[in-house]
Amino acid sequence: MKILITGGAGYIGSHTCVELLNAGYEIIVVDNLLNSKAESLNRVRQITGKDFKFHQIDLLERAALDTVFFENSIDAVIHFAGLKAVGESVSLPLWYYHNNITGTLRLCEVMKKYGVKKLVFSSSATVYGVPNTVPISEDFSLGATNPYGRTKQMIEEILRDLNVSDHEWSVALLRYFNPIGAHKSGQIGEDPNNIPSNLLPYIAQVAVGKVNELKVFGNDYPTKDGTGVRDYIHVVDLAIGHLKALEKVLGFKGVDAYNLGTGKGYSVLEMIHTFETVSGRKIPYQIVERRPGDIGICFANPLKAKQELGWVAIRGVEEMCKDSWRWQANNPNGYENTKIFTNVK
Ligand code: NAD
Ligand code: UFG
Repeated sequence: MKILITGGAGYIGSHTCVELLNAGYEIIVVDNLLNSKAESLNRVRQITGKDFKFHQIDLLERAALDTVFFENSIDAVIHFAGLKAVGESVSLPLWYYHNNITGTLRLCEVMKKYGVKKLVFSSSATVYGVPNTVPISEDFSLGATNPYGRTKQMIEEILRDLNVSDHEWSVALLRYFNPIGAHKSGQIGEDPNNIPSNLLPYIAQVAVGKVNELKVFGNDYPTKDGTGVRDYIHVVDLAIGHLKALEKVLGFKGVDAYNLGTGKGYSVLEMIHTFETVSGRKIPYQIVERRPGDIGICFANPLKAKQELGWVAIRGVEEMCKDSWRWQANNPNGYENTKIFTNVK
């Protein structure tokens, strides 16, 4: 069984490559390396002891993508490739719409041409916008509040329309909550290009001394300690969720959305304290104003994924923080100029 992974060199993609290879799938990765390094794929080869093809291709280059399908008999696609920074999407909406939506259209056109109609798509909990209540179920109304989120919402609609036009299409829309953590080996993990905007990579960079202190965005939310609450999910659990979704699309037809989250919410302060405990490092922080556009509480109802995919997230926040720390401590510069200086086990 041959699976094409778009965006496979990225954070979630590389972890999913490991799980697919370990499960015996043959994979082909395409990525333009806009937000990743080919080194992540070398590490995937080291971890699994398996080799696979990698094509440095932009999804917007239809001809190059066509060649990949022409030369390989692909059974299904897992589509991670996309831009993902909320703030950047507000400043550069045209780039986000073009890259994420046109990239997906190109991919689907080529898939259609070669009769490949099985797709697992990286959506996001951001499609729910500001939920009226928590936990969030898949049947909640959608209302993304920024261009990035709207690309995800629009792509979901496009994929549903595709299935209406041709019932042979089988698509899983995976709405991730907050992926964090890293592979146990400490060899692959999240490698943000600049100063990270997400909580965990930021905490990890404070712990390793690259950034002085964390800014906690608001302590006046109606939550246990006033700071924002999120459903953090270990990236390896998330990767395994893709394996389960792949099995689903290979065996069924139709379009379905699934929340991939743990169903539990943790506050910013809880995450700081957990990280301090597992790393033995102090995380200096300062409470500042709320970040514009943030919501107070967000966590999933993950029951549908359990019932229909047979998937449950099993790794807790301590393990998530410990694995993030191992990756960050062993790779303080991410995949670039890696210098193992602490060898955290
Ligand atoms: P990432 O940036 O690490 O990985 C995305 C990969 O796609 C990168 O390697 C990038 O180089 C590649 N890419 C982007 N545009 C491309 C194009 N036009 N052609 C080819 N390759 C392209 O991000 P990630 O965290 O691994 O996220 C993967 C997917 O999951 C994204 O679609 C993202 O929007 C979605 N998602 C991520 C999160 C999160 O918090 N990380 C949450 C919800 C959804
Ligand atoms: N936070 C801080 N300080 C920081 C960064 C974050 O206090 O420096 C807080 C936020 O205010 C929030 C929590 O930490 O309460 C989590 O923030 P993240 O930026 O890590 O994550 P978000 O929930 O805001 O958004 C993330 C992704 C989106 C995705 C969404 C749902 O960035 O792309 O999860 O999946 F859509």
